[in-house]
Amino acid sequence: MRVLRLGLLLALASGLLALCIYITGVSDFYGGYRLSDDDLDALRSLQSQFQKCVKANGLGLEAVSGKSICEVALSFPPDTVSKWKDPKSGELEGLSFDFNLCEAVATWEQVRNSTTILTREFLDALPNGWEDYAWRRINKGIQLNQCENKTLCKEKLSLVLPQTPPYFPRQFDRCAVIGNSGDLLKTRFGKEIDDYDVVIRENGAPIQNYTDYVGKKSSFRLLNRGSAKALDKVVELDETRKEALIIKTTIHDIMSKMIRELPIKNPVYLMLGASFGSAAKGTGLKALEFALSICESVDMYGFTVDPGYKEWTRYFSESRQGHTPLHGRAYYQMMECLGLIKIHSPMRAVPNRVVKWLPSHSLIRAARIASEKVLRRAGAASFDPLAACSIVKKQIKRSSRGLSSLRKSAIDHKRYVRGTTMYPLEHSPGHGLLCTVPAD
Ligand SMILES: *[C@@H]1O[C@H](CO)[C@@H](O)[C@H](O)[C@H]1NC(C)=O
Ligand SMILES: *[C@@H]1O[C@H](CO)[C@@H](O)[C@H](O)[C@H]1NC(C)=O
Ligand SMILES: *[C@@H]1O[C@H](CO)[C@@H](O)[C@H](O)[C@H]1NC(C)=O
Repeated sequence: MRVLRLGLLLALASGLLALCIYITGVSDFYGGYRLSDDDLDALRSLQSQFQKCVKANGLGLEAVSGKSICEVALSFPPDTVSKWKDPKSGELEGLSFDFNLCEAVATWEQVRNSTTILTREFLDALPNGWEDYAWRRINKGIQLNQCENKTLCKEKLSLVLPQTPPYFPRQFDRCAVIGNSGDLLKTRFGKEIDDYDVVIRENGAPIQNYTDYVGKKSSFRLLNRGSAKALDKVVELDETRKEALIIKTTIHDIMSKMIRELPIKNPVYLMLGASFGSAAKGTGLKALEFALSICESVDMYGFTVDPGYKEWTRYFSESRQGHTPLHGRAYYQMMECLGLIKIHSPMRAVPNRVVKWLPSHSLIRAARIASEKVLRRAGAASFDPLAACSIVKKQIKRSSRGLSSLRKSAIDHKRYVRGTTMYPLEHSPGHGLLCTVPAD
C-alpha cells in the first residue's frame, strides 16, 4: 500500500515536472528563451574574439572570461598607478572592471536604431508623458507639480521641443566625437578631424586657437547643465553659428531667455538617452550614444585612453574634476572591440589604424540575438523589426521634405522598420521601446 502510494506520488511529480518543462520550454510568458547551439557558439566566439581584440589593441589591457558566458573582466597591468580617488569612500580606483558583453551588444544595437532627441510626439505618445517625464526635464520642475498647468509646462519646453525627430538613424556616414582631454595637444589631428562628415564636441570646448589639434568643423555639441546655462558663451565657440546644441540635462529659464532674447539661432534640443547604469553618465559617453544613433560609423578623439596618464587636464585649461578614468578607458576599449567605435589617441595615431581581431558583423549580429534571449529582452529572437515595441502609437503627419536626399543606408533602415520611429523608454522591463508608426 505504502509503496503504491509512493509510486503514485512519484508518477504525479514527474508528470508535473514534465508539464513544467513543457510550459517553460515552449511558452514561458516571462520569455525564458532556450539558447540553441548556434546561440551558444556565437556567445563563445564573441568571448574569445573579444579577448584577442583587447589584447591586440588595448595597450596593456587584458580581458578574461567571467562567471557566465556573457561576463568579462578587463584588467590593467598590475604596475598601473591608480590616481583617482572616490570622493565619498576615499578609495583609489581599482585595476579590474567587470562588464557584461551581452548587455553591451544588445543595448548599443538598440541605440543605433533609436531616436535620442526628445520630441513632442514622444511626450504625447507616452502614457502620462507630460506629468511623469516632461516636468522632470524642466529645471525646478517640482514647482510645476507634474505639469498641473500643462500650458505652462508646454511653454517652458517649447523652444527645445521639435514635433518630430530632427535626425534619423544612419543619417550621417562618418562621425567623430571629440573629447576634451589634454592629450589632444600631443597630436595634430585637426586635418584628419575636419575630414569627417560630422564632428561632435562637448561643453565649452574651444575651436579657435586650437584648430591644428582639434579641427575647425563642428556639427553638434553635447552640453551638461553648467555649459547649458552659459549658452551665450557656448554659441560663440563655433564661428559659423550652425552647430546644433544637444542638452543632456534640463531646460532652464536662463537658457530659454537667452534663446529668445539674444536670440540664439542654433537648433537646441534635449537628449533622450537610454539608461546604461552608473558606468555611463558622463558627457563623453552621452556624446557617443548620440553619435551612434545618427551615424554609420563613430570615431573618437580626445578621450584620455592611453596608459601612463599623469594629470587630468583639458586641452584648453589646467585642471578638471576627472572621474573613474580607468573604468572609462576599459569601457571605451570594450566598445571598440564590439565594433561600435574606433579610438584615436597619441598612441593610436596612425591614420587608418586597423583594429585587429575585431569580431565580424555577422558574429556580432548572432551574438546580439543570443544576448537578447539571455537577457529576456522584449522582442528577442523575433524577425519582426517592431517586436521590441512595448508601446505603439500612430504618428502625427510628418513632412517628407528632405527624406529623399537621405543616404541610402538611412533609407534602407527606414524601409526595414517600415517608417517606425523608436524611442528608448526609461526603466522599461526588457528594454521595450516606444514606437510611433505611420498613420496609414
Ligand atoms: C497656466 O499657465 C499659463 C501660462 O503661464 C497662465 O497664463 C495661466 O493663467 C495658468 N493657468 C492656471 C490655472 O494657473
Ligand atoms: C585665442 O587667442 C586670442 C589671443 O591670445 C585670444 O584673445 C582669444 O580669446 C583666444 N580664443 C579662444 C577661444 O580661446
Ligand atoms: C536595427 O536595424 C537594422 C537595419 O537597419 C537591423 O538589421 C537590426 O536588426 C536592427 N536592430 C535591432 C536591435 O532592432
